[in-house]
Amino acid sequence: MATAKAWVLKKHFEGFPKISDFDLKKIELPKLKEGELLLESVFLSVDPYMRLCSQMDMKEGDIMIGTQVARIVESKNPAFTVGTFVVTNSGWRTHFISDGKDLQLLPPAWPESLPKSLALGTVGMPGLTAYFGLLEVCKMKPGEIVLVNAAAGAVGSVVGQLAKIAGCKVVGCAGSDPKVAYLKKLGFDEAFNYKTVTSLDEALRKASPDGYDCFFDNVGGEFSSTAVNHMKKYGRIAVCGAISQYNDSVPQKGPYIQIPMIFKELHMEGFIVNRWSNRREEGLKALMKWVIEGKLKYHEQVTEGFENMPAAFIGMLKGENLGKAVVKV
Ligand SMILES: NC(=O)c1ccc[n+]([C@@H]2O[C@H](COP(=O)([O-])OP(=O)(O)OC[C@H]3O[C@@H](n4cnc5c(N)ncnc54)[C@H](OP(=O)(O)O)[C@@H]3O)[C@@H](O)[C@H]2O)c1
Repeated sequence: MATAKAWVLKKHFEGFPKISDFDLKKIELPKLKEGELLLESVFLSVDPYMRLCSQMDMKEGDIMIGTQVARIVESKNPAFTVGTFVVTNSGWRTHFISDGKDLQLLPPAWPESLPKSLALGTVGMPGLTAYFGLLEVCKMKPGEIVLVNAAAGAVGSVVGQLAKIAGCKVVGCAGSDPKVAYLKKLGFDEAFNYKTVTSLDEALRKASPDGYDCFFDNVGGEFSSTAVNHMKKYGRIAVCGAISQYNDSVPQKGPYIQIPMIFKELHMEGFIVNRWSNRREEGLKALMKWVIEGKLKYHEQVTEGFENMPAAFIGMLKGENLGKAVVKV
């Protein structure tokens, strides 16, 4: 019999999440039945969507939702061998039992040199978000100008690099000078700190006086309302996220975007990466290939210790992460 630790949502978040909104519980797991597996989490992901989904899909006392890379430690299912690593959505828990149906094996031939935590980031859901958002929503073409915000994060850092691989000019912005330096290191053509520029409007114009063909929006709110005015005619906006609004208790008000949308004849489309779940293998294969070739670089913000999951989550929402925020158990 194994004992699992799990983080539950003690109290629905009001504004910014606080450590006291979470509770750490111990759960005794039953013995395995035929066909079942016991898994232990090795890396867990902390993602912005957890803030949104806690409000929509969770009640107080529920285990926090989330994805992990886990190792099979006991198996009564002949299809799975002890020691195999998988990706699964089993929430913030150290150990759990599965019947195997919800487990995704790591892509075959995962190189030993690559951390398995990348399956939660660049070669996982955030990487796929960048891949499909750029290809299918922005429909970027070589030579175009691409704007991305939260650019030093899990999704944004992949967006900028994939756009460079595709032959675009890339402008990125992020919330600290070290993050801006990182974007330059990754090969972004222009990068700025949106928190310290005197005018976002001027910074966007200076970075690309001709405007933007594609805008991969991770932030929403005021940033997006300003950026819309810098789109080229027939530009495309991929609405990926709105992190600037997730912690608001009172909804933000305009400026509103309809007039530039009309006169510039823009295409704006929201999306959720799961739309392309039938093309997951294609996306992962492409991302893995670019990582191995050194064309797609990654950085991870690794927090040590399962007990620090709430702090890692809150830190990510505050912008403390460079690249993908993960927790190592
Ligand atoms: N549609 C989908 O299927 C999908 C899938 C994955 C992610 N997403 C969305 O994509 C966005 C990025 O997710 P991620 O996993 O890559 O997270 P991330 O960028 O690694 O981390 C979040 C970052 O957001 C920035 N941020 C926080 N508050 C902000 C604010 N008020 N204004 C501007 N930036 C702020 C911070 O960076 P700075 O220091 O730069 O402020 C922070 O590091 C999120 O909006 C997320 O919800 C959507």
